Amino acid sequence: MANVIWDKKGTAVDGRIQRFLAGDDVVLDRALFAFDLRASMAHVRGLARIDVLAAGEAELLLEELEGLSRAWDEGRFVLDERYEDGHSAIEAHLIERLGDAGRKVHTGRSRNDQVLVALRLFLKDALGSLEALCLDAAEGFLARAAEGEATPMPGYTHLQRAMPSSVGLWMAAFAEAMLDDAALARSTRDWLDTSPLGTAAGYGINLPLDREGVAKELGFARVQISPMYAQNSRGKMEIQALVALSQALFDVRRFAWDLSLFTTAEFGFVVLPPEHTTGSSIMPNKRNPDLVELLRASPAVVWGAIAEIQTVLSLPSGYQRDLQATKGPLLRAMASGLEALGLVPDVVAKMRFDTDRMRVAVSPDMFATDRAVELTAHGVPFRTAYRMVADDLAALDAKHPEDSLRARVSLGGTAALGLELLTERLRSQRAALTVSAPSPTEP
Ligand code: ARG
Repeated sequence: MANVIWDKKGTAVDGRIQRFLAGDDVVLDRALFAFDLRASMAHVRGLARIDVLAAGEAELLLEELEGLSRAWDEGRFVLDERYEDGHSAIEAHLIERLGDAGRKVHTGRSRNDQVLVALRLFLKDALGSLEALCLDAAEGFLARAAEGEATPMPGYTHLQRAMPSSVGLWMAAFAEAMLDDAALARSTRDWLDTSPLGTAAGYGINLPLDREGVAKELGFARVQISPMYAQNSRGKMEIQALVALSQALFDVRRFAWDLSLFTTAEFGFVVLPPEHTTGSSIMPNKRNPDLVELLRASPAVVWGAIAEIQTVLSLPSGYQRDLQATKGPLLRAMASGLEALGLVPDVVAKMRFDTDRMRVAVSPDMFATDRAVELTAHGVPFRTAYRMVADDLAALDAKHPEDSLRARVSLGGTAALGLELLTERLRSQRAALTVSAPSPTEP
């Protein structure tokens, strides 16, 4: 590690210990690097506005930062063990290229607020992706709901046959869930849309920094005012973003569970396409729903990350190096959770319903509730009607499930799924989706 920016005479840290302190930080920082560069440019412009940097110096720094940003995008700059972390890499690079102008970039800034602002931009970007992915999934479910509006299937409670239901009702449940998950991603993004840049080490700085201007330039809605709270909120905001992600994945898990049951030979309601199933290494007869099962497992890493971050956060006020340990779980969970969610629309679009199997599975006993309610129309009190039907279940004839579906007319019921309401909600949530800055990619 050649480029330790804080190195002073006679303070060299033991190499093995230095490696332990850095951990996999420099690798993790690859996910934050483009955000760090953006924030560094805003910081430089801010310093120029208060004349801490001369116009010429700011121009040089900005040019160099732009160049580094291009080199990063094109894979010509590699973030590796030469540096302690991404933040030091930027400063070391500027010093190497510009000498004294480079030595001025860190004026009024600490790595403590530098990492915070990069993380905050990352979280906003990730929540933007989460929102968009939830809306894509909602759209996929809505399309299948419309197609299966009149397609009967059994409805279960306690996993026991309960009442006739429909493919439309099943799919609409997940469409509405995904709309709620998108809304949660959005409100979480708004909640943490606050700029920590300019809080330095956590106690402010003896310069009249243009914190509001810098925040605006970076697209933040607000400035996080208290420097100490800015530090204390590290991890707290990460947790909330992961909670939003976990809510979407909990819905994915439930859907995956349904698929995993409905694709068994015993149910046989759903068939997955060959490209979504895998073979067995020993049993030539098998196609396995591994994809569905890994989708079902997807919340685990996210909830694990929340627990890990929560555990690290047992800390007093101010920056503590422990906070670095919140970065790995956040980045890993966010990447794997968003990847899983991104697969959902394709699964939804390509699964095939065996409508005959579903229809046959709606057995006569499942019309019992319908029958009891029908009797109440003739003035029989419901409890009496319930007993009458229960006493003679065998008398229930195999009605057409379609008739049962058509009679469930209150909003949300099989005859009134409210798909137009959900479609309208999808349209307005899509319209409100702010197109976030292009996601920085790893070279
Ligand atoms: N890698 C560090 C982190 O993630 C950057 C901040 C270092 N600050 C410090 N005071 N050592 O927290």
